[in-house]
Amino acid sequence: MLRALTGIAAAEFARRRRQLMRMAGEDAILVLPAAPVRTRSHDTHYPYRQDSDFWYLCGFPEPEAVLVLVPGRRHGEALLFCRERDPEREGWDGARFGQEGAVEAFGMDDAYPIDDLDEILPGLLEGRSRVYYHFGRDAEFDLKLIGWINRVRAQVRHGAQPPHEFLELGHLLHEQRLFKSREEVRLMQQAAEISVRAHQTAMRAARPGIHEYELQAEVERVFRASDACPAYASIVGAGANGCVLHYVANTARAKDGELVLIDAGAEYRNYAADITRTFPVNGRFSKEQRALHDLVGAAQAAALACARPGVAWSAIHDAAVECLTEGLLRLGLLKGGLEKNIADGHYKRFYRHKSGHWLGLDVHDVGDYRIDGEPRLLEPGMVFTIEPGLYVGADDRSVHAKWRGIGIRTEDDVLITGEGHQVLTTGLARSADEIEAFMGR
Ligand code: GLY
Ligand code: MN
Ligand code: MN
Repeated sequence: MLRALTGIAAAEFARRRRQLMRMAGEDAILVLPAAPVRTRSHDTHYPYRQDSDFWYLCGFPEPEAVLVLVPGRRHGEALLFCRERDPEREGWDGARFGQEGAVEAFGMDDAYPIDDLDEILPGLLEGRSRVYYHFGRDAEFDLKLIGWINRVRAQVRHGAQPPHEFLELGHLLHEQRLFKSREEVRLMQQAAEISVRAHQTAMRAARPGIHEYELQAEVERVFRASDACPAYASIVGAGANGCVLHYVANTARAKDGELVLIDAGAEYRNYAADITRTFPVNGRFSKEQRALHDLVGAAQAAALACARPGVAWSAIHDAAVECLTEGLLRLGLLKGGLEKNIADGHYKRFYRHKSGHWLGLDVHDVGDYRIDGEPRLLEPGMVFTIEPGLYVGADDRSVHAKWRGIGIRTEDDVLITGEGHQVLTTGLARSADEIEAFMGR
């Protein structure tokens, strides 16, 4: 029998399903399809990545599966439809769990062949008043679901009770996913540690003339050698490429005297890390590079000082913006008063993005940032990035030439604890002094 390789105990998946079903209520039904296989070219596919919501609730790794949760159903609440065992196909594509595996390895109450979904689902929908589902995510599955509901509606004259409320599943589930359990934090800590080692390896490999893709290879070799993969397309930008926020070409050479910005994080057991470091390819910061790098570091420290329960999420970004703007004025990149520069958003010429995002099964993880229009307060169990940066365009004539083409971001992953916070991405050189010392070794 195949073993489940989820990193999370079956009992925790069961607990998550119970919690969600309790919130959904006894008259609800929840339907979650697995991620589809996506074509890369002709008959080859992208590496398969399970849908995060589906994974969160069962940890089942295969495509062509549907999880159906039926709270209070006497003959079983957690049902999985999945592919049947098939020795011929398994000889081509690898082993499958089958229905027996779904029950034994994943703690399902019952499992059925995916081909029976069409026949069985209308009966499960019948008598349930509310359907929780991700409408609009998979148009093909949306149509199938409507078809099953219509099949129940067609039986109304015979006493069938079709569902009459259709609700966005994310509303409940994403609030649940926002708060990480001890087990999840443990996996995120592992993703963070792998990512720290990957960044260290790239820093050690750096030398003038190296290609961005060679540094990417160093990073991703460590990911893969640690049973992980990139959580998102790794960004390796030398010089002014560091100013391109989603630069993924990674084709240029890093010239002597340039900075290299690496934004790369491992995904381990489907949990993401997200780290950015910016370091001089020759191991020594110039005066201007150091001044801006120090300023980004100060902004990150100011933001991190706000990371504790009860503080508004928006305070993180506000603290970073105030610190960056103050420094840009001091260095002469902005002119005028602090308040006006912040109020008018002048800092956005050099800092265009927000200072962080939730982190979890998705790198930009789910969960609301505002509640009833107000920034939500930080609570224990939330994990997010803090990632201030400064980007001076290579042809920005409004600033002295010495600043042009410098792009810097420093990004770490932070867990809110009962007392304050814990940085998950520790042990990686962060300040200019630490980076120079590490690279000089
Ligand atoms: N790597 C994506 C981000 O930093 O948000
Ligand atoms: Mn990020
Ligand atoms: Mn990042």
